[in-house]
Amino acid sequence: MTKLIWGFGALILLSSCSNMDHETNHPMSSTSSTPLIIEGDFSTELTLPKTLPITNATLEAQAVMEGLGYYSGGTLGPTLEGQTGDEVHLKLHNQLSESTNLHWHGLMVPADQDGHPTQQIAAGASKEYSFTLKNRAGMYWYHPHLMGSTAKQAFQGLAGLIILRDSEEQALRLPSGEYELPLVIQDRRSAGTNYNPSMNETMTGFMGEKIFVNGIASPFVKVKKGVYRLRLLNGSNARVYQFAISDSRSFTLIGSDGGLLGSPQAVSNLLLGPGERADILVDFSSDKVDSEPYLISQAFHSGIQGNQSFKILKFKVLAENGISYSIPTTLTQIHSLNPTGNPRLFKLEMMDMSSMNHSMGGMHTINGKVYDSNRVDLQVKALSTEVWEFENLTDEIHPIHLHGVQFQVLSRGSGRPLQALEKGWKDTFVLLPNEKASIQVPFGAELGKFLFHCHNLEHEEDGMMAQYEVIP
Ligand code: C2O
Ligand code: CU
Ligand code: CU
Repeated sequence: MTKLIWGFGALILLSSCSNMDHETNHPMSSTSSTPLIIEGDFSTELTLPKTLPITNATLEAQAVMEGLGYYSGGTLGPTLEGQTGDEVHLKLHNQLSESTNLHWHGLMVPADQDGHPTQQIAAGASKEYSFTLKNRAGMYWYHPHLMGSTAKQAFQGLAGLIILRDSEEQALRLPSGEYELPLVIQDRRSAGTNYNPSMNETMTGFMGEKIFVNGIASPFVKVKKGVYRLRLLNGSNARVYQFAISDSRSFTLIGSDGGLLGSPQAVSNLLLGPGERADILVDFSSDKVDSEPYLISQAFHSGIQGNQSFKILKFKVLAENGISYSIPTTLTQIHSLNPTGNPRLFKLEMMDMSSMNHSMGGMHTINGKVYDSNRVDLQVKALSTEVWEFENLTDEIHPIHLHGVQFQVLSRGSGRPLQALEKGWKDTFVLLPNEKASIQVPFGAELGKFLFHCHNLEHEEDGMMAQYEVIP
């Protein structure tokens, strides 16, 4: 059995409580902006997180001293690797001084293994998670999911990747080994891992001014002249990125949250909200030796987000030749769905501060309600397919995520057309301010309660989460 420490930034007590920090901004008019990114010098070489077999691993959720894990090695958890069909038996030892648990973002697991906020692992306790890997090959991830500490623990480093392989994907002989780079992009604060969102940061989300890749601030990676498979996760609490290469070259999107797309899509940028993944092929074969293209985020101006373009990762092009790869025109079959019943409508709203019931906590609501773990918001039949419509009535971006399923985005009633990223299976999708979109959701056979929520983790903690129950 392999064992690995899962880092967790140390808590620092502040002398003043941030919740006392009364902001004057009306919540409906976000006059604030995101913290400006301060780029590093791209002098630290990128490393990949250690990998463990998901079938039989032990994770230790453990506090590491700030400065040790966080600034040098980074605090990202190990990458868990497995094959579709494998049985998972994974132990979590909670060595934190507070409760935690694990949620398998994107994986279809039984309700009692999904890290529901009611399934807590107390400080000092352990749990073995057991389930079968039913998903297709793809990149998924794990993070805690307790009401009140999901956002904090994720910000402090408790998150990691899950990479599943299957025979269909292996048959494509995609760039692998040194030519496959999983990249977890997160924003962090120079001030460290202290997590103390002000009222205003609950509105905008808790953002940082430094960009980390795989737990390393502003790194570089050496690339040979050839094709690379970059697997991106936006693992940030709230920041949305519009990923591109600094010279605006086109690259090829081959997969999304739930694995391969039906066919490759040529794109020159990708908007990714927190929780979303993109699997891309980037060709460096005609780059000049010693040239330094960057993975960047372009400005996109949506609400308070995207006001700045900034560099994320530097590629140093070597003289050596890498591999070439000719992309097949068909990657997989994305089967069409036959939803039944009337669409369900979910309105994402921001309650006015003045009308807010303070005893209820949050201002971010779904159909007028904040999350309550004692309330089942709706029931669906096992193995049925439904259309869910989401309407964003706020001036904030909401990345919407459903547990227990992979779905397809059907249409966007207003705003942007269907995105390249949405031509496959998704578990999270972005709703820009005032957008409306419909998704078709094939529910699984597992009965029980599953969550859906905004993956801006501050919005989630503030109440923008609900639960559906799968019934026979
Ligand atoms: Cu990654 Cu319920 O979330
Ligand atoms: Cu999830
Ligand atoms: Cu939100």
